[in-house]
Amino acid sequence: MTSATSFLFVAIHLACIRAGNFSETFVELECKEEYHGVYGQQSLLECIVKAVQNVTILTVTWKRVGGDAILLEYHKHENASALGYKFAMPSWNNKNMNVSLLLTNTKMADKGVYECMVRTDSGDATVTMSLSVTAMYKSPTMSSSPENCIKQNTDVTIFCNTTGGHQKGLIWWFDEFGTNCTGSAELVAKKTDDTLFSLSSKLTILKATYSGSTNYSCTVHNTNGVQEGKASFEIPFVCSAVGVIGSLIIGLLAALLILKRRSVQRARRQSTLPLMRDSGHPTDRHHDDEAEGKVILTV
Ligand SMILES: *[C@@H]1O[C@H](CO)[C@@H](O)[C@H](O)[C@H]1NC(C)=O
Ligand SMILES: *[C@@H]1O[C@H](CO)[C@@H](O)[C@H](O)[C@H]1NC(C)=O
Ligand SMILES: *[C@@H]1O[C@H](CO)[C@@H](O)[C@H](O)[C@H]1NC(C)=O
Ligand SMILES: *[C@@H]1O[C@H](CO)[C@@H](O)[C@H](O)[C@H]1NC(C)=O
Ligand SMILES: *[C@@H]1O[C@H](CO)[C@@H](O)[C@H](O)[C@H]1NC(C)=O
Repeated sequence: MTSATSFLFVAIHLACIRAGNFSETFVELECKEEYHGVYGQQSLLECIVKAVQNVTILTVTWKRVGGDAILLEYHKHENASALGYKFAMPSWNNKNMNVSLLLTNTKMADKGVYECMVRTDSGDATVTMSLSVTAMYKSPTMSSSPENCIKQNTDVTIFCNTTGGHQKGLIWWFDEFGTNCTGSAELVAKKTDDTLFSLSSKLTILKATYSGSTNYSCTVHNTNGVQEGKASFEIPFVCSAVGVIGSLIIGLLAALLILKRRSVQRARRQSTLPLMRDSGHPTDRHHDDEAEGKVILTV
């Protein structure tokens, strides 16, 4: 058989199947072949009943292929569903052709093949579709040790941490000049539960200085190398704003304390005032106060 005739055979064969199917079914289910879910989020398996005329739905059954348990069912005017599964349409009724299934909190174990079966007063339809589930790493958080007020020429360790991936991911490091420093970093991956990982990578910078790179970035990648998150971190050579405000408050408190101590001294002195008046220097105390005021202001 030449390739041209074999093509013709295949084409005729396909045409027959199409025509056959079309003449037999008045009702079809339109769903995608593949759906992609994300761990911890909702997943929608969208299926719409298509019919040439108005139909009334008699039963809807959603289940996993290879599993006996029914996830969602409409039968004899009653809905039944397993925990975490429901009609995607909020108040679905049997005139509603949108029979989509909603998984309210997708788990890694929800990955698999699903089957939707619909019976109507004008025919039946069954369709299968697959659901894949991925879990993405969250945007990383960065910190350093020492945390703050780092002195020049001291060693600094920078951390880049993230959680949430379902496979052991990677963390890459770059300095502010774009140099890849991943080689000097140490990555620790841990399973946080049965399925998810946490990653912590630490990069130690020996004798960090202003003249070198002071801004480091880390990127999180899944096992396929696809970037899922990025963060950057400036080495905290100067004390942070919180530190500055903190020392201002301490300074203020110290000033208040001095003020209070002075007023106590003044009170003591006032009790000896009559004697001083007699000695003929009535303005001395006033000058004293002014001097004290200046001292306090310059604290
Ligand atoms: C189908 O149903 C709609 C709304 O229920 C109605 O307006 C329409 O006339 C019906 N069509 C047929 C062919 O029965
Ligand atoms: C079916 O219902 C779901 C949930 O309301 C909605 O997200 C989806 O777009 C609907 N599909 C169609 C084709 O109307
Ligand atoms: C990152 O992980 C390390 C080691 O577990 C920890 O010492 C550090 O505090 C963490 N940093 C952040 C920002 O979570
Ligand atoms: C950075 O370095 C790591 C480890 O050496 C390597 O796997 C990665 O491909 C590098 N990334 C880039 C963008 O050069
Ligand atoms: C550090 O570098 C990143 C880009 O690599 C930049 O987006 C960020 O603004 C820089 N941070 C500071 C504080 O300069």
